[in-house]
Amino acid sequence: MTPLSVATLTGERCFEELFDLTDEHDVGHIRLARDADLVVVAPATADLLAKMANGLANDLASTALLATTAPVLAAPAMNPTMWAAPATRRNVERLTADGVAFVGPGEGLMAERGESGLGRMSEPLEIVAAVEAALGAAAASGLLAGRRVLVTSGPTHEPIDPVRVLANRSSGRQGHAIAAAAARAGAQVTLVSGPVAIADPKGVSVVKVESAREMLAAVEAALSDGPPVDLGVFAAAVADWRVEGAAQKIKKGAGGPPALALVENPDILASVAKGPLRPKLLVGFAAETENVIEHAKAKLARKGCDVIVANDVSPESGVMGGVRNAVHLVTSAGVESWEPMDKEAVAEALAARFADMLETRS
Ligand code: CTP
Repeated sequence: MTPLSVATLTGERCFEELFDLTDEHDVGHIRLARDADLVVVAPATADLLAKMANGLANDLASTALLATTAPVLAAPAMNPTMWAAPATRRNVERLTADGVAFVGPGEGLMAERGESGLGRMSEPLEIVAAVEAALGAAAASGLLAGRRVLVTSGPTHEPIDPVRVLANRSSGRQGHAIAAAAARAGAQVTLVSGPVAIADPKGVSVVKVESAREMLAAVEAALSDGPPVDLGVFAAAVADWRVEGAAQKIKKGAGGPPALALVENPDILASVAKGPLRPKLLVGFAAETENVIEHAKAKLARKGCDVIVANDVSPESGVMGGVRNAVHLVTSAGVESWEPMDKEAVAEALAARFADMLETRS
């Protein structure tokens, strides 16, 4: 198999080299190891199992395997004599004790002419079934298993006329990462997203909206549809105002630039906080460019939510539209400031913290 066939068939990049300068810069072997929900080793050769069992890390595969915190599933494939060899037996026993799961090997004809026995890699469909079982087990034992979570994310676009909008710089990265982290932690997640240029997170049901009023309607629909929502995380950068829109495209005219009349948008977070379908734990975000903590404390009281995740979005911080975030968790109990982290890591840590808070509330 060539890297090109793997990339073409999966529609993903194929990584080969440890410390390839371009890949290391873009992705990095540590990130490659951490981003996965599950690492599948197929085929798991006798050599790779030996490396894994002994913690060797001298190529990309073994390094990613040593660096990963995700569950690992191995599908061994080797000659029956090698599978039965005492060294392989020891390695498999050690790996099992380390928590590595195995699928197969099966019995059957080997690549070597005329040989058959135990060592044949499981069929792809068996491996897929094992992957589904492993992911299902991870979700079922996750910190948010059995919880319903509603997340808003991204900006809103408020039409000025049929072709123009008022928008903001939110990328949706933080909100989407929270939805993904909650899903990985076993929650049933609905994500209401404004217009973003990033992919839908895996395992999440996504409702796409444009304006603040559409976002409010989608949030209300999600709250009233199905079992009660346990956790609401409102990370969207909702436009505070909309334009008294024009039905037709505004034309340049002799009268000079048009005056835009702004009207206030509904406050989604505040109205959900007051409403009958308020989630047990309600989290708002505060995007501030100065006096971050002070404004966040005021916002906590004004919005009526349980937590404000405050971040500095001043242009110097690089947060808005960027990949890293430094947040402060503001609750009635006080303020907790976290070190700057990738938005994915922030999401993971927030999901775990919200799970704890829910636990103490129910
Ligand atoms: N929010 C909302 N609906 C709005 C405005 C904000 O649900 N119309 C939510 C955001 O999703 C976020 C929180 O309220 O969770 C705070 O958003 P932010 O824009 O920081 O606060 P504002 O209320 O708009 O206050 P200000 O613009 O004065 O800072």
